[in-house]
Amino acid sequence: MSERFEGNFTQQEPIPDEGIAAAVDVMRSGRLHRYNVAAGEISQAALLEQEFAAMTGAEYCVAVASGGYAMATALRALGVGPGDRVLSNAFTLAPVPGAIASVGAVPVFVDVTEDLVIDLDDLDAKADQANVLMLSHMRGHICDMDALMALCEARGLRVVEDCAHTMGAKWRGVPSGRHGVIGCYSTQTYKHLNSGEGGFLVSDDAEVMARAVILSGSYMLYERHLAAPPAEVFERVKYDTPNVSGRMDNLRAAILRPQLRHLDEQCAAWTERYRTVEAGLRDTPGLRLVERPEGEDFVGSSFQFLLPDWAEGAVRDVVARCAARGVELKWFGQAEPVAFTSRYDSWRYAPSEALPRTDRVLAGLLDMRIPLTFSLEDCAQIARIIRGEVGAVFQAKM
Ligand SMILES: Cc1ncc(COP(=O)(O)O)c(C=O)c1O
Repeated sequence: MSERFEGNFTQQEPIPDEGIAAAVDVMRSGRLHRYNVAAGEISQAALLEQEFAAMTGAEYCVAVASGGYAMATALRALGVGPGDRVLSNAFTLAPVPGAIASVGAVPVFVDVTEDLVIDLDDLDAKADQANVLMLSHMRGHICDMDALMALCEARGLRVVEDCAHTMGAKWRGVPSGRHGVIGCYSTQTYKHLNSGEGGFLVSDDAEVMARAVILSGSYMLYERHLAAPPAEVFERVKYDTPNVSGRMDNLRAAILRPQLRHLDEQCAAWTERYRTVEAGLRDTPGLRLVERPEGEDFVGSSFQFLLPDWAEGAVRDVVARCAARGVELKWFGQAEPVAFTSRYDSWRYAPSEALPRTDRVLAGLLDMRIPLTFSLEDCAQIARIIRGEVGAVFQAKM
């Protein structure tokens, strides 16, 4: 009898007791809105922003309602508007082009490499089409940020980083989100901190951040923030920055603060699980692992591998056979969007030229979550199952 994995790929860990207790306190107080504070009280949201800014080393931080909202706000704060073009990764998920479209702008998709990062040659070729790059560190893969930033500086591109999958990660010691002018993060359930929904923007640019705070829905209460620019910067922008409410509330902030204190340990636990899957899949015939560059200190909260140039039917067989043994793989080669997985050519509101190099990578790309509820033994078992099924299909087809 072949073994079957019985774990649940969408089961996250519980909220730590400390976070539950803090959330109950907020509920008992009745002061859930971030600007509803008692005399002398500092809100949970303001404290969280201060702690997140310190964690990333950013001057400023604002907590918001979602990662998608953070990205749209970043674009608005940079003055991106209707009809503007914004460069972004062809390999990403729907909230990224969605954020661009939400401000009336038009995504221009840039190829992905076999290492699952943005193709710098293609970026260079398209750089004159826009002045903002929404860089998605999709599935935690960080490109050579030194080369990317040099290119963007030379070509006059301002960079917004989508760090939905890289909170806690670094490139050559610099936290992800700290290379571009703005870093955006998500605290949605499947990300590295879990408040159901939520997000952050960080930046060192005072004027951009004053705009982001007002955009987030601060009214004229921005002085209740701890990680925002000084009042005089708000004076310069407050009359011409709209309020597009998307604040984080104190309940979510209370849940997040204790999680943030343990982020490093959680990230290490993810990466240990990632390395266990990787070791189990190494040297599987027909399967290509994504080698992680030396400068990348990644968080292994999901795992990707390639079945390069495999026939569509053979990839489908692998997905079906693994599913029958309890291992859920998402396939980026599928023409139709399914659940969270979609591709650049399914976002028809943002028509793209054909990207054959990206199509080739996506055709063989498989992806899976690694929740922290999985043990190392679970990860080893998952790798054995994938190895066995890839091997069986590979032998039969080749
Ligand atoms: C690559 C990527 N960017 C951004 C987001 C946006 O996060 P949120 O769900 O908080 O809007 C997600 C969410 O899944 C994502 O996968």
